[in-house]
Amino acid sequence: MQNSFLQKLAERHQKSLLRELMLPQGEDFCSNDYLGFAQDAVLQKRVQERIKDLPSGSAGSRLLRGHQDIFMELEAELARFSERESALIFSTGYQANIGLLSAILDRNSIVFSDELNHASLIDGIRLSGAHKRIFSHNSLASLEEQLIAEETSTAHKLIIVESLYSMTGDRAPLKEIISLAQRYGAEVVVDEAHATGVYGAGLTQKLDLHHQCLATIHSGAKALGVAGSWIACDRVLKDFFINFSRPFIYSTAPSPLVAGALLASLEHWHNVGRDRGELCLDKARNFADILSEMIGEGLEEGGLSLVGDGPILYLQVGDSAKALTWSGELRSSGFDIRAIRYPTVAEDQAGLRISIHTNHSDSTLDRLLQIFKNMVRPC
Ligand SMILES: Cc1ncc(COP(=O)(O)O)c(C=O)c1O
Repeated sequence: MQNSFLQKLAERHQKSLLRELMLPQGEDFCSNDYLGFAQDAVLQKRVQERIKDLPSGSAGSRLLRGHQDIFMELEAELARFSERESALIFSTGYQANIGLLSAILDRNSIVFSDELNHASLIDGIRLSGAHKRIFSHNSLASLEEQLIAEETSTAHKLIIVESLYSMTGDRAPLKEIISLAQRYGAEVVVDEAHATGVYGAGLTQKLDLHHQCLATIHSGAKALGVAGSWIACDRVLKDFFINFSRPFIYSTAPSPLVAGALLASLEHWHNVGRDRGELCLDKARNFADILSEMIGEGLEEGGLSLVGDGPILYLQVGDSAKALTWSGELRSSGFDIRAIRYPTVAEDQAGLRISIHTNHSDSTLDRLLQIFKNMVRPC
């Protein structure tokens, strides 16, 4: 057994795919702290106030003795923020995704899933036993083709997408996906993990499409700078999850400290979040414009491309070894930008995930652009 572990690790190493834990070092261009909330001194103070009288743990599932007033207060606030009837919190987004999909899908369901969906969505589908149809990333033609192929089936149908893709940073064509869903009798669930906080509660809300989704999943751990996650949906669906979502039922409730901190973060968001979100998107747009010009000028033939319509930009390099080398060079120059490799992305689509934050100064962004300039045009 030990040998097979060693062998698998050696294979990864040999293909430049080995993962290792690295402490943060240098300017943060890789975390999901888009609005700078995780390190915000004002928010930290609010959090301390909010949590000072709370118990440290909930000591049981919500269905046993783990339910607390603070969870009801938080869920009411999250429902208001998401503009939905109800919200149900989970300790993590991973848990919410497997909790949602394994509850609403079964062997009689067909799920249409974007090929770049997050691992937690893929695992939730696997757990449910539903029939899976993968459509090409953000391709309405591919999705429609799959829907047409199942048009005569009476199975329960669900389309699942991310609003803002976690690695490539591009946005799903949500309006068109929802129209297709309506035409072919499918429901839609949207994972808003990376959009939450940057675009209000998420992109479905920003586009006024949230009421046309069966549910949306939101993160308290990314732009909101705390932890935890919630599903926004109607009251009946929340009751359904409380009864049928095994990751909700058979797991200890989140710590009340997390709930208190998330309430503090929402208060803070109502003060500064919208402006910071807009500023972050402006900075990301400017940065992407300059970087794509650099790539366009020199090295498209080198297989580079840049995608991303929000705070996450993905510089696709292609080769894992090259992505690792570039990430190392950036690190030595004081920038923390990580290489994204298989199996997180397809084998030939390795790249650098650059996340732009509101608190990146213009001079820091300029310095990083200078380094990219030398990297993409080495001569
Ligand atoms: C799109 C998406 N959904 C869900 C998750 C899981 O969220 P969490 O980190 O809270 O478990 C992530 C994590 O990065 C994600 O990118």
